Amino acid sequence: MPTPFELASDEAFWADIARRYPRDPQVINLDNGYFGRMSQGVVEAYKQAIDQVNCSNAVHVRELFDTRESLAIRQQLAELMGLPADELAFARSASEALFSLIRNYNRLQPGDQVLISDLDYHAVQDAFRWLAKARGVEVIEIRHAHPASHDALVSAYTDAFVAHPRLRLMALTHVTHRTGLIMPVKAIAQAARAQGIDVVFDGAHSLGQLEVDLADIGIDFAGFNLQKWIGAPLSLGVIHVRRERLQAFDPDMGSQSYPADDIRCLSPYGTPNVPALMALPEVFAEHAAIGGWAVKGARLRYLRDLWVGEARQLPNLEVLTPDDPRLYCGITSLRFTQAADQGAMAARLLNEFGIFTVARSGSACGPCIRVTPGLNTSVADIQALVAALKQLAG
Ligand SMILES: Cc1ncc(COP(=O)(O)O)c(C=O)c1O
Repeated sequence: MPTPFELASDEAFWADIARRYPRDPQVINLDNGYFGRMSQGVVEAYKQAIDQVNCSNAVHVRELFDTRESLAIRQQLAELMGLPADELAFARSASEALFSLIRNYNRLQPGDQVLISDLDYHAVQDAFRWLAKARGVEVIEIRHAHPASHDALVSAYTDAFVAHPRLRLMALTHVTHRTGLIMPVKAIAQAARAQGIDVVFDGAHSLGQLEVDLADIGIDFAGFNLQKWIGAPLSLGVIHVRRERLQAFDPDMGSQSYPADDIRCLSPYGTPNVPALMALPEVFAEHAAIGGWAVKGARLRYLRDLWVGEARQLPNLEVLTPDDPRLYCGITSLRFTQAADQGAMAARLLNEFGIFTVARSGSACGPCIRVTPGLNTSVADIQALVAALKQLAG
């Protein structure tokens, strides 16, 4: 059996995988970080579920889905995530999951401090800032040094813990959406725990392409989605709270749909996308058949290394994400150092070379262009990117 590392460069294996995903021949899409494509198999399962629910309507949903199927699907998710099923609840997105954790956390007192960093997701930052108004807490905002290093990332947090002794809650992003940097989450979570600081863990970009062993990392509260690297239809998120910590939360908006000791009380109330949930058994089966996060992650890193190796040699171009293997995954950002507007350079990549990426800004490392290969990205796509970068960097 080949290792994930060996499979990463097995073009026959990946050509076979790529054939399972639809592809727009007009554009090389290197923004697979927004959301992943569904495979044809998942699309079929999703369509069948739509037809079934549309036909049997509330009868199926009330009689079977709500009572049995949804629990069986959650059990499968629990197996994929290595967590007890009763520590997981479905939400409609990672944002919704994280917002629920942030607004329903009941341990904050006026005068407490909460912490975010410049590399956290903007909507998570906003939700933490909202806590200032809603709970009377002080929001501490740290900025990470650029270029990032493992030790500097950890010490940015440990320094903040010393400087702000009233810290009670913090955000921690596993993979930042700005540059694809992997945070040294285990060391940071351990340091937070030692100070009695609770952590809201944002795994939106990690689940499915990295190992996410929450017990090992030391995480009690987390939010995810399933559409980026697991391969699910849009509209599915996941809330995790370790069983022993559920008392740190109130049911969302006072909901009485589930008792306070059932994690589903944290799911914002509303009718979910039932057909999307019903497609999950096919999604999980395909994720496992490819080889799970280990094989997906190794391929994405392989493709990333192909272009980054060349891009680092180019003049007028900076690759922002470090090459420390602990700190990067398939997502990496670059900057044209002579260009005033990275958005305009992303537009040139699209208009002149047919390569779609996304400009990102808002972090201390400055504006950049994020490049994210996907499971149907070929080596030829990456070579096209490198050729375009060479021309644009001059
Ligand atoms: C780091 C990070 N957190 C949270 C989210 C929000 O995920 P969702 O779109 O499922 O709400 C994203 C989305 O891109 C993200 O990149």
